[in-house]
Amino acid sequence: MTAEEFRRVGHALVDWIAEYRTGIERLPVMSPVEPGAIRAKLSPSPPEKGSSLESITEDLNRIILPGITHWNHPGFFAYFPSNTSFSSVLADLTAAGLGAQCMSWQTSPAATELEEVVMDWLRQMVGLSRQFTGVIQGFASTATLIALLCARERSTNYSQERGGLQGEKKGLVVYASEESHSSVWKAARLAGFGKDNLRLIPTDENHAVIPKKLEIAMQEDDERGLRPCAVVATTGTTNSLALDPVGDMTVLARLWGAWLHVDAAMAGTAMILPECRWMWDGIEGADSIVLNPHKWLGTGSDLSAYFVRDTEQLIRTMSTNPAYLRTQHDAEVKNFRDWGLPLGRRFRALKLWYVLREQGVAGLQARLRRDLQNAQWLMAAVDAAPDWQRTAPVHLQTLCIRHVPAGATDGAELDAHNLRIAEAVNRGGRAYLTPSILKGKQIIRVSIGAETTERRHVEALWAELEAAARSLPLAVK
Ligand SMILES: Cc1ncc(COP(=O)(O)O)c(C=O)c1O
Repeated sequence: MTAEEFRRVGHALVDWIAEYRTGIERLPVMSPVEPGAIRAKLSPSPPEKGSSLESITEDLNRIILPGITHWNHPGFFAYFPSNTSFSSVLADLTAAGLGAQCMSWQTSPAATELEEVVMDWLRQMVGLSRQFTGVIQGFASTATLIALLCARERSTNYSQERGGLQGEKKGLVVYASEESHSSVWKAARLAGFGKDNLRLIPTDENHAVIPKKLEIAMQEDDERGLRPCAVVATTGTTNSLALDPVGDMTVLARLWGAWLHVDAAMAGTAMILPECRWMWDGIEGADSIVLNPHKWLGTGSDLSAYFVRDTEQLIRTMSTNPAYLRTQHDAEVKNFRDWGLPLGRRFRALKLWYVLREQGVAGLQARLRRDLQNAQWLMAAVDAAPDWQRTAPVHLQTLCIRHVPAGATDGAELDAHNLRIAEAVNRGGRAYLTPSILKGKQIIRVSIGAETTERRHVEALWAELEAAARSLPLAVK
């Protein structure tokens, strides 16, 4: 492809993206295709000859677009907001255009130094003190795995430099909420602790860890000759955005010499609002924190922010130092390849820079506050409706609700009824939400916060939920 062709098709593709975004509301939020439908339209063998970019774009419209679930649709209320604002799109395009490989300072000094600066901006924005230093990881799952690897190495005085966990006499234990994200469970397994050494601590009626239960679990493990190694507190659990008591958990972690990691993947973004910071009270006692600008803040995936207290410890755990990677400035600079799992690194700081500069802290705060107000509006509507219940507090922008018609009792029938309501709304194409299970009961989970979602979209969702509930009477067995 020549630069001229690139310019022509590239401009057309930017137009395509702009039109896609402006017309997104006309598309069904959740892709309606059946499994295998997209694959069936694609050639099973690689193309022998090249084709025109126009024909590829035609196939993009014909084959790919129907198989897309539109996360930037104003009717997107599923999982979590995953906003990819226009400035983030442009920054990713620019990063791809530069094609820089940013593993070491020397392989693109600007990438490293911009990352240092924007991560420090983010640190200030969420109100963390200077004792924390940030680095970009791909996803929160990776950051949590890194946290548990660091915890393991700190507890064992760097067993990786000897026989690894296999050489350790005392078993190590990880503690997290029963409502913690599956990435915590996965990280505990992959970091070698084993499922048997992961304690899922019971939660209270607000779905937050009960500190006394954590204390008992740690005490019992110590008595059994095991070693409490890491505690993961979640600020904003996936199901209900429950808030674990970070301060209490920090105190317990410290008592046992355990690492305290805070998973604030979703709710961390809200900490740019000073009025929300009570939600992670005690955060300054954490060893590491993860929050995802690639969720609610507006930078597209993959951009997870990992903040650590002891950078030397992180580097000692993660670094390798083969001759071919050494450079003359190593003693003076940060080489982010030693701060994470992969060697290679995309220029991800660019999109955070673009988004923060384009929208400014005040612009981002205003959007988040709009979403919080929309959630409060929906909460008031649910609370005023006699046949609907809320099953969790609304701390931020997520609601867990359940339709309970008069006379209905908990059980499989009511669960199936709620699942049918969620599926009916999703099939309708105007909104997309997540059915889930909280404390054994089927719930309908509404997560507000797409960049394009205004009050009218939340009102329309509520009307759809009510209509679906009315049209789907509780089935009698
Ligand atoms: C609390 C929490 N932690 C971790 C994750 C995983 O994030 P990622 O996809 O960045 O690995 C999620 C995603 O929903 C989450 O809600």
